[in-house]
Amino acid sequence: MTNRKPSDPRTVAVVGATGAVGEVVLRLLAERNFPVGELRALASERSAGTTVTFADRSVEVREAVPDAFDGVDFAFFAATGGLAKSLAPEIVKRGGVAIDKSSTWRLNEDVPLVVPEINPGALEKHKGIVSCPNCTTIGFVMALEPIRRVAGLRSVVVTTLQAVSGSGKPGIDELARQKVELTRGEAPTTDFYPQPIADNVLPLCESFRDDGYSTEEVKLLHETRKIMDLPGVDVTMTCVRVPVPVGHSAAMLVETERPLSPEQAREALAAFPGVSVVDDPANNGFPTARDVTGRDEVLVGRIRKDLGSDRLWMWQVSDNLRKGAATNAIQIAEEMVRRGLQ
Ligand SMILES: NC(=O)c1ccc[n+]([C@@H]2O[C@H](COP(=O)([O-])OP(=O)(O)OC[C@H]3O[C@@H](n4cnc5c(N)ncnc54)[C@H](OP(=O)(O)O)[C@@H]3O)[C@@H](O)[C@H]2O)c1
Repeated sequence: MTNRKPSDPRTVAVVGATGAVGEVVLRLLAERNFPVGELRALASERSAGTTVTFADRSVEVREAVPDAFDGVDFAFFAATGGLAKSLAPEIVKRGGVAIDKSSTWRLNEDVPLVVPEINPGALEKHKGIVSCPNCTTIGFVMALEPIRRVAGLRSVVVTTLQAVSGSGKPGIDELARQKVELTRGEAPTTDFYPQPIADNVLPLCESFRDDGYSTEEVKLLHETRKIMDLPGVDVTMTCVRVPVPVGHSAAMLVETERPLSPEQAREALAAFPGVSVVDDPANNGFPTARDVTGRDEVLVGRIRKDLGSDRLWMWQVSDNLRKGAATNAIQIAEEMVRRGLQ
């Protein structure tokens, strides 16, 4: 516990400040009026000496080394898993809290994995490291939790359609370059994804495991179970990369414990903080990745009963860089400040 008031300024570090998520963290810290006293922008040795923008001013980027965390209250990690593994304990040693966006700490028993609208209480047991779920998992559980609260949850079959920014700057750059190559009539060159992503759809996010699933797919299962505290819930999935800049979508077939009508599901979803329902088939009303870009809400539509069972279909979209990453991480810090935990 801390004696500081929520409005007292905190020293904040953003690790990976030059990356796709780090840039949005910087923007949202200012936009959400997080009580930032000193801001430290950290990245690799490659970026040291360059500048990033925070609250309309330039901040010089420094290399992320242990000493850079002296006196830091919150460190937002938006870098590599390896870096979070080695540096997060350094922050804890110095009395700070690390909020990590990588997968490194997510399933560690001593590390809360938090979506603040769903399991904020898990923060009470933190030991200095808090983990932020995968960008796909966050939108997914945000759409499931309101349903679970009214009808229980048994299983979900899901296909995700994930934006290239979910792979960070290399994914964004690859799509942009291939689009130019195609407009010039050239064959798209591949540097990052295993096959062209422009004008294409790849049934692979991250890399394949020996059992044929991708690493991204398996994260969705285990993270969902941990966040929702439902170790027996059955989630099976195919994660697909699509040539969309920002915004992850998912088609979800949801089996509840008790029957739930589409109307009841719409009501439960609309009443949940951070979720909006966009579902007006008569007027072609459904949410898309373009609609959700730059927004913090998770949008849900196409809610309908399965033709052969009591299961419900839902279509969910969320901004992977905001609620899927930066917004959720900052909400965690806000909740910790509110609870007097840091
Ligand atoms: N993109 C998403 O939608 C999303 C969503 C949820 C979670 N995440 C996770 O968030 C993290 C960042 O992803 P991103 O998409 O922002 O990636 P990115 O655009 O590739 O940016 C990576 C950042 O990490 C820094 N970095 C890399 N190696 C480093 C090192 N050895 N020391 C210090 N800094 C280093 C880079 O700095 P340099 O510029 O100096 O190389 C850059 O600032 C990843 O763990 C990712 O899995 C991403």
